[in-house]
Amino acid sequence: MKMKDLLLFLSYVLWGSADALHTDIHVVGCSYIHGGVMFGLDREELWYADFEKQMDVYPQPPFVQPISFGDGAYKIAVANLYGCRQFLQLSETAMKDFPPRRDAPSGVMIYTRNEVELRAKNTLVCHVTGFYPAPVKVSWTKNGQITTGGSSINNPYPNKNGTFTQIARLQFIPQQGDVYSCTVEHLGLTKPLIKIYNVDTPETPEKHKPSLGPAVFCGLGVIIGVLCAAGGTFFILKANKCI
Ligand SMILES: *[C@@H]1O[C@H](CO)[C@@H](O)[C@H](O)[C@H]1NC(C)=O
Repeated sequence: MKMKDLLLFLSYVLWGSADALHTDIHVVGCSYIHGGVMFGLDREELWYADFEKQMDVYPQPPFVQPISFGDGAYKIAVANLYGCRQFLQLSETAMKDFPPRRDAPSGVMIYTRNEVELRAKNTLVCHVTGFYPAPVKVSWTKNGQITTGGSSINNPYPNKNGTFTQIARLQFIPQQGDVYSCTVEHLGLTKPLIKIYNVDTPETPEKHKPSLGPAVFCGLGVIIGVLCAAGGTFFILKANKCI
């Protein structure tokens, strides 16, 4: 591993224990090229710094009440990143004789965000966990071709055991027979891990087909009802000696 590729992640769990109600987390990570600063709550990202676009991002869905860390938050993240790189330089010197730790991802899962409906917008999720150091590189293919449109990956999230989790997403429109894959690369892997997703949804799912059963029962019910009414009327008339 080239030292400049070393990603050092410091995580400060500000408040939290196994039986706490909520866990608040502030993650600062850097290499000499990349960096990530994130605030999280209960394994969700509340805020992160996008150093490429030089802005901060609140990735909550629209139904969450807006929160704000204030105007200065991005600047603080820039200072965090600077501090992280200083620390990285120090640790590089101090730890140059230590073999680097490398844990390959222990789990990779591919699944869709929503139930699959043909031609309806959806998101493919590639969930990678149990690796160290961060980050992993995730790439996508559609029918064997590399695809990047609408893909994203979140900041590495620390697990309790010192490893990381990252979640990559790809927006897609399911078409019958399409095959997607996510490829995971990591320093601890000798060859990439690949997970495949097949779009295999029948055009009209069985549950949407109107069933013959209820119609038959209803028809039979009506016929029996009419016969009973006719029989009843016959016996009433007979009892009254009308027939
Ligand atoms: C660490 O935790 C992650 C997720 O919580 C798990 O997938 C992984 O197997 C664990 N790794 C070890 C070495 O226990």
